[in-house]
Amino acid sequence: MNTKITIAIDGFSSTGKSTLAKQLAKQLGYIYVDTGAMYRAVAYFAMQNNIITPSGFDKTALVAALPSIQLSFQYNAELGFAEMYLNNENVETQIRTIEVSSYVSKVAEVSEVRAKLVEQQQEIGKNKGIVMDGRDIGTVVFPDAELKIFMTASAETRAQRRFDELQAKGDQVSYEEVLKNVVERDYIDTHREDSPLIIAEDAIEIDNSYLNKQEQFDIVLDLVNEAIKDC
Ligand code: DC
Repeated sequence: MNTKITIAIDGFSSTGKSTLAKQLAKQLGYIYVDTGAMYRAVAYFAMQNNIITPSGFDKTALVAALPSIQLSFQYNAELGFAEMYLNNENVETQIRTIEVSSYVSKVAEVSEVRAKLVEQQQEIGKNKGIVMDGRDIGTVVFPDAELKIFMTASAETRAQRRFDELQAKGDQVSYEEVLKNVVERDYIDTHREDSPLIIAEDAIEIDNSYLNKQEQFDIVLDLVNEAIKDC
């Protein structure tokens, strides 16, 4: 009997979606896909090719370049998760900078970009046994997912987490700058025309402002087991 399900984890930026998704995938032996990394890789490509700069964003040029953007995930056994590759180059580090974060929402607004990435995400997840995190997984990519989680936390809590992460990596950035980026991205992600960040009707909302990683994991693992039982 095939009891593998699809788990969609959506929510605001820096709510710990990827931490939770990785824990779940490891526990269940599922594939983990970080769809934010795909949008980040496209934003990184746009930066590298001067398509997006501090003075503007040439959407037409990005759409024209889309066929030359190849995204793939390659599993890194040492890290225990798949890393993001852009045209066969490992860009896992390059896509996590504040600069990419400041551009990525604009790139993710472009319908042609979304269509390309959604198609690839659906292909990767077609056999179930997948944990996918993003903004539109439960609403657009896998509307029939057996389990949909929507994660939230206050903007300040999320900015502090992100700030701590960036500082640990040696990124010279202020808390105020990170908070501003979190608030801006929330706005763009929830107001864009194509696939805005909204909670799916059948998603279970988890506010993890006051939950530690283990508490959150335990809650969601119970939900997974229930969803598998219901299959
Ligand atoms: O999860 P993240 O912060 O790495 O995502 C980066 C950006 O990509 C985020 O600002 C919104 C966008 N995104 C999206 O529009 N749809 C997704 N499925 C995943 C991310």
